[in-house]
Amino acid sequence: MTFLFNSDAARGAIFREVLAREIPDLRFAIDPAQVEADDVRYMITWLVPPDLGAYRRLEILFSIGAGIDQFNAASVPPGVKIVRMVEDGIVRMMQEYVTLAVLALHRNWPAYLDQQRQPLWRAIPQPQAQDRRIGVLGLGLLGQAVLERLKPFGFPLSGWSRSPRAIEGVTTHHGADGLDLLLSTTDILVCLLPLTAQTRGLLDAGRLARLPRGAALVQTGRGAQLDQAALLAALDSGHLAGAVLDVTDPEPLPADHPLWRHPRVLITPHVASVTQPETAARAVAENIKRHRAGLDPVGLVDRSRGY
Ligand code: NDP
Ligand code: OXD
Repeated sequence: MTFLFNSDAARGAIFREVLAREIPDLRFAIDPAQVEADDVRYMITWLVPPDLGAYRRLEILFSIGAGIDQFNAASVPPGVKIVRMVEDGIVRMMQEYVTLAVLALHRNWPAYLDQQRQPLWRAIPQPQAQDRRIGVLGLGLLGQAVLERLKPFGFPLSGWSRSPRAIEGVTTHHGADGLDLLLSTTDILVCLLPLTAQTRGLLDAGRLARLPRGAALVQTGRGAQLDQAALLAALDSGHLAGAVLDVTDPEPLPADHPLWRHPRVLITPHVASVTQPETAARAVAENIKRHRAGLDPVGLVDRSRGY
């Protein structure tokens, strides 16, 4: 039985070592030319390779990242389990990033950076945390983890998911009506949704307009969930005060895109979370053990939901 690692060699070396320790009977390969296709039971990759069909006995296709929207699930045979990356490194990094972004927007950092460039020494009125409402779209692993980190600051917290969720200290909403209510009562909106047919284009002009005047956005889900032209218009009209974008559409954002130079936008190149090979390899080893024991792997994708 072979585990085929279809990503960069540096991370591969760590996976090789962890898997050899945890599952000694599993062969490990980085180079597809060196493997017997029929021996490959597990593969980890960012993109689905065009010759996936050659691996006729593949049992699990692991994503090296937390999202699986980059996979064309229809090209993955129905019997193959698709598993997203669920590992502590991704969670910790997302908690750091969203906390940083929320605090930056709360403390008017984009506006102060703009003033610094002028230069202008001027205090901006500062609402207190209890008056700044944070709304998180997506109450899965990452949405819940960032809400937990934000609790000690004293912001009123709310969240939105597809199905009803109860989270202590968080006002939760679900469904279309729930989204409208969350948007109209949110000052800093954090998007941590997976990209699916339902969430593509979700943050359009109409939904951005539902946010109160002066609200701000943290976009850490996927770029295609946000109408970037609508965001620019909302920033330029003064309806939105600022945005922190870690994901864009396309990636990289073209050099001449106006978002790059907008004075109240902070952009990072899809680095909010980066899979950490040590913890990721251990998570994958655990999942192979679960699978061999007849259990579902952690992070198993429900193809009908698309995440
Ligand atoms: P999960 O699958 O654990 O959670 C997804 C959440 O989104 C769930 O609460 C789910 O609702 C909700 N959701 C999905 N579809 C809808 C919908 N149509 N309407 C309302 N809510 C919906 O995912 P994670 O928390 O692990 O990750 C979320 C996403 O974050 C990833 O898919 C990826 O796109 C992004 N990401 C970005 C990174 C970056 O570096 N920028 C790094 C890692 C992830 P329900 O609870 O009802 O199922
Ligand atoms: C992602 C990741 O899914 O980097 O964005 O893990």
